[in-house]
Amino acid sequence: MSKVQHAPFIVDRGEGIYVFDEEGRRYLDAAASLWYMNVGYGRTEIIEAMTAQMEKLAAFHTFIDYATRPSIDLANKIAAVSPDPGSKVFFGSGGSDAVDTAAKMARRYFNAIGQPERTVFISREWAYHGMHPYGTSLGGMEPNRVGYGGDLVADIVIVPHDDSEAVEKAIDHTGAERIAGIFVEPVIGAGGVRPVGQDYLTTVQDLVKKAGGLYISDEVITGFGRAGDWFAANRFGLEPDLITFAKGVTCGYAPLGGVIAARQVAAPFFETPGLIFRHGYTYSGHTTACVAGLVVMDILEREGLAARAAELEDELYQALLPLEELPVVDHVRRGVGALAAVQLAVGDDDTLPGRAAVACREAGVLTRAMGGGALQVSPPFIMTPEQVTEMGALFRTGLEGL
Ligand SMILES: Cc1ncc(COP(=O)(O)O)c(C=O)c1O
Repeated sequence: MSKVQHAPFIVDRGEGIYVFDEEGRRYLDAAASLWYMNVGYGRTEIIEAMTAQMEKLAAFHTFIDYATRPSIDLANKIAAVSPDPGSKVFFGSGGSDAVDTAAKMARRYFNAIGQPERTVFISREWAYHGMHPYGTSLGGMEPNRVGYGGDLVADIVIVPHDDSEAVEKAIDHTGAERIAGIFVEPVIGAGGVRPVGQDYLTTVQDLVKKAGGLYISDEVITGFGRAGDWFAANRFGLEPDLITFAKGVTCGYAPLGGVIAARQVAAPFFETPGLIFRHGYTYSGHTTACVAGLVVMDILEREGLAARAAELEDELYQALLPLEELPVVDHVRRGVGALAAVQLAVGDDDTLPGRAAVACREAGVLTRAMGGGALQVSPPFIMTPEQVTEMGALFRTGLEGL
């Protein structure tokens, strides 16, 4: 705060894949804000549907037996495109509360089925699971986790992000009977866009399920098309017990997030009279936010945008690859779907990532320094091949001046 408080960079308006500052200067948004503006800025259709809903009923809570039609419709629509169409959907307001909800839901589930000793979660180095207490403690980037006089939440084991044997060892060491689950970003996002092979994901899922724990796919970034399908779990043929989502579900037109609970996890709560998961937020299932989600899902379907995100996987990589010629670039990392990273040759200079992001902004492209000194590339899915080329050129202009 001491550094930025007198010089905020003010974003004034957006149009498609571009945003404009207060002086009217245009920037290509290569990060889709914070990984979420997937259908682009200024979608009149979303704004009109939200306005109509607000005129009718801006919001009503969803506690006890109260519901609103948009929250029911969106929950059904999300379940239908998830790996288990019989899933139930819990809504919150963003990714961090989705992660904390998933952790509590897992533990409540194990209590309900008579296995209260299952309290331990495994997570991975470089992981980012948000900033609520569970997410902070599950995070695999130490600077985010320390400074609170100890662990915010106990019973968490962190393993290397790409080593399934380490997961096996963690289960053995902890005792299979104590494992509540594992949190896995199918592609690590904020930790630097670090994809792992499908084999790793499948192996880890099988190991944790065999131990009796839950496989929790954190799809806050990868969900709703970014990985080239509705969820990365669909693309990789996974069967998560829980999926967390946020960001792309509304593309930022309203804050919304949630947890998709597969049939077997939801069942005890729906089938056992008196069994309650005492959890919920004022804005769970926020009516107008759910309308935004419904329209976003329509747009994704109608415009084939998950397929476009899949095409972007190679286009982004090819457009960025020439940056490897620059001395400040170590390598370009290919992601999954509309994800990539420009890994900087940071060496001892830990100011480089921040300076590089600002230099790119001055050149007219918005990006962000992520874990390990890589620049984020996660554009809106509507980006055309010509705009991909433009993005590559703007990155070059920004980075070659360093
Ligand atoms: C994988 C993942 N999980 C959780 C979160 C937290 O989401 P939010 O910032 O909406 O609370 C993020 C945010 O970037 C994320 O990338």
